[in-house]
Amino acid sequence: MDAIVWNEAVHSVGHPLMDEHHQVLFDQVNRFVELYCQPDPSKIDYFNALVALSDFVNFHFSQEERMLAQIEYPNLDGQEAEHTKFVDKIVGYTTRLNLQDLPQLTEFLAHWLIQHILVEDMQYKAHVQRAAE
Ligand SMILES: [Fe+2]
Repeated sequence: MDAIVWNEAVHSVGHPLMDEHHQVLFDQVNRFVELYCQPDPSKIDYFNALVALSDFVNFHFSQEERMLAQIEYPNLDGQEAEHTKFVDKIVGYTTRLNLQDLPQLTEFLAHWLIQHILVEDMQYKAHVQRAAE
């Protein structure tokens, strides 16, 4: 599986800090891609990648939700619901801590992140830009 690459023209949501956070998330997902490509990934590396991801994701989601509340984004509920579902899923994988989940989890993370940015987050781009004017 190839690393995922953040591309400003495709993935920018019009908010520099959120774009920066999203790039960190790409790096964190790529940590799973790297592990997945190793012949014999270690469980501790897998655990550390999960912990780093969930720490940053919790931080990012709370900042993103706060920013959306500030600009009175109408679909904040939808964002929160998506974020909660994602966090629950990561908690599930962390609790199981089974290296056999690595391929499936890596595919899920790469797909989820890109889809979430392109579909959910892109919907707030116009609101963010209007609020900045
Ligand atoms: Fe989001």
